[in-house]
Amino acid sequence: MGSRLKILVIGGGGREHALVWKLAKSARVKQIYAAPGNAGIAQIATCVDISAEDIDQLIQFALENRIDLTVVGPEAPLTLGIVDRFHQKGLQIFGPSAKASQIEGSKVFAKNLMVYAGIPTAEFEIFETIDPAISYIKEKGAPIVIKADGLAAGKGAIVAKNVNEALRAAQDMLVKGLFGVAGKRIVVEEYLQGEEASVLAFSDGKSVLTMISTQDHKQIYDGDKGPNTGGMGAYAPAPVVDKNMLTDIEERILKLTVREMDGQGCPYVGVLYAGLIITEEGPKVLEFNCRFGDPETQPLFALMETDLFEIMEKTLAQDLKATRIEWTNQHAVCVVLASGGYPSRYQKGKTIGGLNEASALKNVVVFHAGTALSDRKYVTSGGRVLGVTGLGDSLEGAVERAYEGVDRISFEAMYYRRDIAAKGLAR
Ligand code: AMP
Ligand code: GLY
Repeated sequence: MGSRLKILVIGGGGREHALVWKLAKSARVKQIYAAPGNAGIAQIATCVDISAEDIDQLIQFALENRIDLTVVGPEAPLTLGIVDRFHQKGLQIFGPSAKASQIEGSKVFAKNLMVYAGIPTAEFEIFETIDPAISYIKEKGAPIVIKADGLAAGKGAIVAKNVNEALRAAQDMLVKGLFGVAGKRIVVEEYLQGEEASVLAFSDGKSVLTMISTQDHKQIYDGDKGPNTGGMGAYAPAPVVDKNMLTDIEERILKLTVREMDGQGCPYVGVLYAGLIITEEGPKVLEFNCRFGDPETQPLFALMETDLFEIMEKTLAQDLKATRIEWTNQHAVCVVLASGGYPSRYQKGKTIGGLNEASALKNVVVFHAGTALSDRKYVTSGGRVLGVTGLGDSLEGAVERAYEGVDRISFEAMYYRRDIAAKGLAR
């Protein structure tokens, strides 16, 4: 690819705002489109009103507008085969094929892959019928984890504290069909104890380029209490994964995964996200995602010095082997501001105040997630609304900057966690 390029970013959350923000810094990139984007993305890109899952229309748009590279944010279009469909039309696109996206789209696929490749993960069994699942759960006892095989918008993993809760979850999936086709098969796995971390890497199908470690905050309340969300905040680097452990994760998890995928005839090209738990026996995989994390991407890109477009280009050219990523020596912390009630029901359309004041602060970047423009005012339009990202020479400093930004912003029923990065600060 040359220079003065046209890029299309698919999706409209905080991760996609971060993707657009970072790609816009590339001297090679002339124009960025986002489908569907959000009100923050619209400040630096042209938003087009096409859903992230409407592959036919996205192809038509990319052809008509001579898009040089399409970058996919969310998992749904990837598992639906957007990459395969774009390739059929001769269009360049960043992300794994439908077959390779099964690593996120099917827990059964991911668990079997880990067994073949000898990758450390929780002990498990797979069930398609309820009776053997009941016997297994009773035999193993609680705590125990029940997972729907397919995509379930982050709600498909139930960490059961007692046997009854586990049996109910298995019944909801296999008998009552409450998780639709995603729950027709389930994984029942060992409960693992430890601190969680996310490690993401670029993969060109053969080589991996590992990014610095991050840590998400999945639960809605402080102290990791309450139901799981898409993620309430993230920071990087995460000290729970030190330099040696990161190398270990690269060698024993990321490289082995990419080699196994290649061996199975579905080379993995794109970003591979390993959701890990750091147990007493070392890092083990909880899940893989076939994309950038949200909100992990926000602190990662805030710290990344290398041109993201050029890393993506090297990925697609199968040329990662000799590629390096430069990072600033700083720390970054992203605090998610959510609509009150999220991850259950919440209201939309609330006017957001203080965006300019927060963005004007030094070392603060405000990424938009669920925002829209109404009468020229920014309003809420989703569960996760903003990701206020602070940078600092220390983790403490980055936390301070992030919450200083948060303090400037307000909307009705705004909710956020006050303990983002607390585990990192405690180390
Ligand atoms: P998953 O969708 O597989 O990442 O699971 C969602 C969340 O459930 C994880 O981020 C963990 O907090 C928790 N979880 C999943 N599997 C396990 C496990 N085997 N042991 C303990 N917690 C788990
Ligand atoms: N933050 C978790 C995810 O992106 O899946």
